[in-house]
Amino acid sequence: MKVLGISGSMRKEGNTASLVKVILNRCEEAGIKTEFVSLAGKKILPCLGCDKCREKKWCIIENDDWDGVIKKVLDCDVLVIGSPTYYFDVNGHTKNFIDRTYSLYHDRKLAGRKGVAVAVHANKGVTRTIQTIEGFLSTHEFSSLGSVKGTGFHEGDVLGDAEAIQKAEKTADKIIRLVKTRHG
Ligand SMILES: Cc1cc2nc3c(=O)[nH]c(=O)nc-3n(C[C@H](O)[C@H](O)[C@H](O)COP(=O)(O)O)c2cc1C
Repeated sequence: MKVLGISGSMRKEGNTASLVKVILNRCEEAGIKTEFVSLAGKKILPCLGCDKCREKKWCIIENDDWDGVIKKVLDCDVLVIGSPTYYFDVNGHTKNFIDRTYSLYHDRKLAGRKGVAVAVHANKGVTRTIQTIEGFLSTHEFSSLGSVKGTGFHEGDVLGDAEAIQKAEKTADKIIRLVKTRHG
C-alpha cells in the first residue's frame, strides 16, 4: 500500500506542502510507505485539447515533467493532492497537472484509488479549491477519504491552524485504518 502526496504549489516548502506532509508523516509513523512530490520547479505544460490521447491513451506532450509524476500516481493506492488557493480556485500549475490527466480518463486508468483533497487559502476561496480537486478525483473514479482545508498566508503559517492539523491527522488515521483492514 503506497500513499503519494502531491503539492501543486510553486512554493516547495509552502503551506500546501506542510499540510500534505502532516498526513504523510502520520502514515509513515504507522509504518505505511509514503512519498511526497512537489510540483515546484517542475515543468507541467497545459493540455493542448488536441484529443490525440483518445487514441494514444497517453498525453502526447513529451518534453516536460508530467509523465514522471503521473507514473507515481498510477503506482499509488492513496493520493493526497493539495493546492494553494489562487483567485478562489486551484493555482495554474495544479490545474495544468489535472487537465493533462484527461489522457488517462478514456480508459479510466486512475479508477479505484482513494483520494484526499487538500487546500490552503489566506482567508477566502478554499471551498472552491477543494471542489475543483474533488471534481478531478471523482471524475477519475477515486473514492474520497475526505478533504482538509487550511488557512495561512506566509510559508509555514498553516502549521498554526490547529483545526486543519487536527483534520489532517484524522484523515491520516482513516488511511491507517484502511491499511489495517486490508492487511489484517
Ligand atoms: C496569485 C495569488 C492568488 C491568491 N489568491 C488567493 C485567494 O483567492 N484567496 C485567498 O484566501 N488567498 C489567496 N492567495 C494566498 C494563498 O492562497 C496563500 O498564501 C497560501 O497559503 C499559499 O499556499 P502555498 O504556501 O502552499 O503556496 C493568493 C496568492 C497568490 C500568490
